[in-house]
Amino acid sequence: MILEGKRIILGVTGSIAAYKAADLASKLTQAGAEVHVILTPAAQQFITPLTFHSITHQPVVTGWWQPENGGAIQHVALAETADAVVIAPATADAVAKLAHGLADDPLGGTVLATRAPVLIAPAMDAHMYENPATQANVRLLESRGVRFVGPEAGRLASGLTGLGRLSAAETILGALRQMLGRGGDYEGKTVVVSAGPTEEPIDPARHITNRSSGKMGFALAEAARDRGARVVLVTGPVALASLYGVAVVRIRTALELQAALAKAMAGSDILIMSAAPADFRPAAVSAQKIKKGPEDAMSLDLIKNPDILAGLSGDFIKVGFAAESQELVQNAGIKLRDKGLDLIVANDITAPDSGFGVDTNRVLLIDREGTVEALPLLTKAEVANRILDRLVRFSHR
Ligand SMILES: Cc1cc2nc3c(=O)[nH]c(=O)nc-3n(C[C@H](O)[C@H](O)[C@H](O)COP(=O)(O)O)c2cc1C
Repeated sequence: MILEGKRIILGVTGSIAAYKAADLASKLTQAGAEVHVILTPAAQQFITPLTFHSITHQPVVTGWWQPENGGAIQHVALAETADAVVIAPATADAVAKLAHGLADDPLGGTVLATRAPVLIAPAMDAHMYENPATQANVRLLESRGVRFVGPEAGRLASGLTGLGRLSAAETILGALRQMLGRGGDYEGKTVVVSAGPTEEPIDPARHITNRSSGKMGFALAEAARDRGARVVLVTGPVALASLYGVAVVRIRTALELQAALAKAMAGSDILIMSAAPADFRPAAVSAQKIKKGPEDAMSLDLIKNPDILAGLSGDFIKVGFAAESQELVQNAGIKLRDKGLDLIVANDITAPDSGFGVDTNRVLLIDREGTVEALPLLTKAEVANRILDRLVRFSHR
């Protein structure tokens, strides 16, 4: 949501990775941004303006001297109204030019003219990146507040394996969103979010788990990051990509979750417990795989896990989730009181469009004063932001 309506200048330079910029332009456009692409002359050897025009529905700037670009004037206007400049991929040459303020193409001119934050995603041969000249240019730009994302290690087009690959589009988007979120309403706050299920081992091959996908917790972590927070995400085993700019602690069992949260909460301002830890765990974990015997039934002894949320207290805001299949308001209200919460997010997990695994959620927010707010069916990202909207109203240190 942070990209909605934002004016983003996407600079594309002459790297073999230039084709990947089309995917980035597409993802930015789909996220609601107005994307203005500037191609260097070298970039146009790799990819055409038509590709970007078709994706962004905006004019593409290809040089100083094209009258259809409106020349230098339209260009500076673009620089002045931009919310952010992203250069992806950025060649060694582009990094050098930007470090030294060259403006022999519209991208250099725009970066000089803009006051918007600038994010650079380099892509080049590993030796070019490691070269002291490139490293000095990167440090010079960083010292002026320019941000870098990547490059990543991996196989390069040159055949070498090393540091030089363009970061994935999702990573660049994450870095851009975090950059845009600087100075947001969660700036200076540390938010700890727990996500996903736990796995309680039975033997080396088996465990008890639940259907939590982690999507709601990841959406909360992302939304808090986009609003300026420092975020720690404590997550059980999930099939979700890690989030740029979010510190991740991976846990497996409820006891590990308890220990990780106790550590993460020191000095933190808010805890949002969207993980679904198991209430019970096997009383004994077999060191060997349990064999099938002749008997027709078997029983497993379970012992209670600690109530993690109730046990965590301190000078922080505490938010819980109640996944209920009946008596939603009543059961959530009891949980709110018993666990000493400031806010509880209740959802009916029997609804097909809400709860486990899906991208949408329909929840009730119930706060410590008893105010109940029923939210409509929203994406998990929207729900996350509505929860954060509600939390900023609580006074905390
Ligand atoms: C096939 C090919 C691939 C290239 N890939 C890269 C690259 O990934 N990174 C890089 O820094 N330069 C790369 N170059 C060199 C740049 O294209 C060259 O330095 C150019 O002047 C960059 O111009 P620009 O920074 O204005 O876009 C490549 C050149 C060729 C011919």
